[in-house]
Amino acid sequence: MSLTIFITICYIISSVLFVIGLKRMSSPVSARKANQLSAVGMLIAIVATLLTRGMMEWQWIAFGLAVGTGIGILAATRVAMTSMPQMVGLLNGSGGLASFIVGWAAYHYQPESSLLTTISTYLAVLIGGVTFTGSFIAWAKLEEKFVTGKPILFAGQKIVNSLLLGALIVGGIIFCLHPDPADNYPLFVAIMVLSLILGVMVVIPIGGADMPVVISLLNSYSGMAGAATGFVIINSMLIVAGSLVGASGIILTRIMCKAMNRSLTNVLFSGFGSVTKKAASEVKGEAKAISVKDAYYVLEAARSVVFVPGYGMAVAQAQHAVRELGKILENNGAEVRYAIHPVAGRMPGHMNVLLAEADVPYDQLFEMDAINPIIDTIDVAVVIGANDVVNPAARHDKSSPIYGMPIINVDKAKTVFVLKRSMRSGFAGIENELFYYDNTRMVFGDAKETVQALIAEFKSV
Ligand code: TAP
Repeated sequence: MSLTIFITICYIISSVLFVIGLKRMSSPVSARKANQLSAVGMLIAIVATLLTRGMMEWQWIAFGLAVGTGIGILAATRVAMTSMPQMVGLLNGSGGLASFIVGWAAYHYQPESSLLTTISTYLAVLIGGVTFTGSFIAWAKLEEKFVTGKPILFAGQKIVNSLLLGALIVGGIIFCLHPDPADNYPLFVAIMVLSLILGVMVVIPIGGADMPVVISLLNSYSGMAGAATGFVIINSMLIVAGSLVGASGIILTRIMCKAMNRSLTNVLFSGFGSVTKKAASEVKGEAKAISVKDAYYVLEAARSVVFVPGYGMAVAQAQHAVRELGKILENNGAEVRYAIHPVAGRMPGHMNVLLAEADVPYDQLFEMDAINPIIDTIDVAVVIGANDVVNPAARHDKSSPIYGMPIINVDKAKTVFVLKRSMRSGFAGIENELFYYDNTRMVFGDAKETVQALIAEFKSV
């Protein structure tokens, strides 16, 4: 078998592993294996690609591999689950930077090329540059380092951004028609610099908490930049892998926007979080608090309980305590379920990850569409640090910023316990009328402490 055929077979195997890996990532049951499968696919692709290059300075490859692997292992083992969006942001940024540099190097060393290669070089540098600085700003905003997490808005911002984009498009057309470095190397450098600036400019107006959507979008960009780079260096594997990342990133972005009932344009341009949001219709009535002891009596008698976790569970790191309480309730004869809203928390799959970490059985996890039809049969819905994703205003209050967002209809359960520290609002910054419903009782306090206190009540008898 010739080397070319061998490498082609390796690339086909890698592509198949990527596709199967992606497919299996859609379920928590198979996600871990799926990740390993994709990693094997990537390893095969890297080895095959190295084989295509004859004379190489291997010591540099080995050095890069060792440094990259070391940083990867350190970062992945140390990252807190709540910091995962930042980590993904940095990884996207690295992908963008790689495409940016490869595009530049390709032009620098081999400027005489076909129109297709020139266009691909331009796209690799443009999208790679935007992805690199955009991801860096997204990371900085989420970490609140160097820059505020709030949207940064200024007069004429959209005009400045449009001018930047216009300059990049016009510059790109001129460059693609006249790529000769003798005439247009400065133009190429200007395109690189403007791309980096555009990345900063498009991300600063976005609020820190909208950043997961942006990160998912930048993830897609990093894939597109990678695919463009694949055309530059004529590597089919890079084109396939880049396209898969590009497409899946866009799909995830769409799913997140849909679950928040917001358009991508609204996420990117509205500066959500920069101003006090429009208040929803005033909520009337009085919220009723209940003690842990009284909550225990109700739970003790319950035959079916559903836990609805939200961002507050992540903050309180209450997942292990929740799981323990779940087991106690099961032993007490109750049917226990965990209902997951697609945008509960601050990143896709946030609640799935936390509950999986606490070993909650997958068959007890219910997606929103699966729990809602049976929620009126549930004795007690225990809302743990969730707020917006259970706000009934989303169903009927047209003046509410979350109107139209699908929610978990906990208010239809027989009794609702809301575990949170105060009456403060959640991410959307609006009051929650659920807290004032007749069948709702507020159990104030840190979610973990409250759940632990409930466990103590069960254990004390
Ligand atoms: P939120 O509406 O943000 O509410 C979280 C609640 O947790 C707060 O009201 C807070 O109330 C409570 N909390 C905080 N720390 C707590 C603690 N230690 N113990 C107990 N409670 C605590 O959360 P959600 O219902 O999960 O909704 C998510 C929101 O984020 C949605 O609006 C969604 O659109 C948005 N979002 C989600 C994503 C993704 S991909 N998940 C991405 C971007 C935006 P207290 O301060 O009173 O305790």
